[in-house]
Amino acid sequence: MIKKGIILAGGHGTRMSPLTKAVNKQLLPIYDKPLIYYPLSVLMLAGIKNILIIVNKGQLEQFKKLIPSGKNLGIKIDFEEQLYPGGLPEAFIIGEKFIKKDNVALILGDNFFYGQSLGIKLKESTKLKSGAKVFLHKVSKPELYGVAKINKNKKIIKIVEKPKKFISDYAITGLYFFDNKVIKLAKTLKPSKRGEIEIIDLLNKYKNEKKLKADFIGRGGVWLDTGSIKDFYNTSTFVSTIENRQGMKIACLEEIAFYSKWIKGEEIQNAIKFYGKCDYSDYLKKIIN
Ligand code: TTP
Repeated sequence: MIKKGIILAGGHGTRMSPLTKAVNKQLLPIYDKPLIYYPLSVLMLAGIKNILIIVNKGQLEQFKKLIPSGKNLGIKIDFEEQLYPGGLPEAFIIGEKFIKKDNVALILGDNFFYGQSLGIKLKESTKLKSGAKVFLHKVSKPELYGVAKINKNKKIIKIVEKPKKFISDYAITGLYFFDNKVIKLAKTLKPSKRGEIEIIDLLNKYKNEKKLKADFIGRGGVWLDTGSIKDFYNTSTFVSTIENRQGMKIACLEEIAFYSKWIKGEEIQNAIKFYGKCDYSDYLKKIIN
């Protein structure tokens, strides 16, 4: 079982500038809560309780104000700083001491996942013993993403970063499950033309060994990348539409922890005090009443 997860929450945030000049993108609001709540909720829904959040150098204090240690959620959260955004696989080099001898999940801090039976799929993925697993999702503009070509048996036969010529419309989402070899493999990667070590190169190493598996979010599920201003606001609108229509929140961390029996009413009461008088607290009150 994969019991550890990393959230990569640093990055340049260039596309979101000037919003990201003083504030980390993952602390900006997607409707009623900071962006970081959404990837964190995904790991929690996968049943992962031991989490490392990697942030930019100098941004640790900002994050700790919001998420001190995870104790309030019945989980353990550690932080590490990334000196410079040198690429996604750096997560495994920075996280080596955290991962130790275990397998590990990685989620990008700006990725949004939502949908029926997502929790079941996630929990299934934590059973990975060896190799790597990615989640694929259909997109209308595959040229903007890392994409995977699959065969009839839904096996990945080719992966390409931002293909100029169409090979597939299955984008590789920002949620990955890896065996422990990932630490060693990440260290062998050489920077690409843009000066970063690339997740595609890492995945290709697994693919070449026939150790790369795929799962699908499915057409009933939602995957949104919040990297650009437009996508950011579209995601906000999506969350607001669902939450206001259904009266249920997406990525309410305390709710997930409470229903997972990781915390009790007392911790919810503490959370209400921590947040103060706001809609989020009103929602928490409803959970314990
Ligand atoms: P990117 O898609 O590379 O986006 P970015 O946040 O760096 O912004 P931009 O492209 O607009 O400059 O990164 C995806 C996510 O991974 C994002 O949440 C930031 C995070 N990240 C890191 O934490 N460290 C890194 O070295 C990289 C490359 C990304």
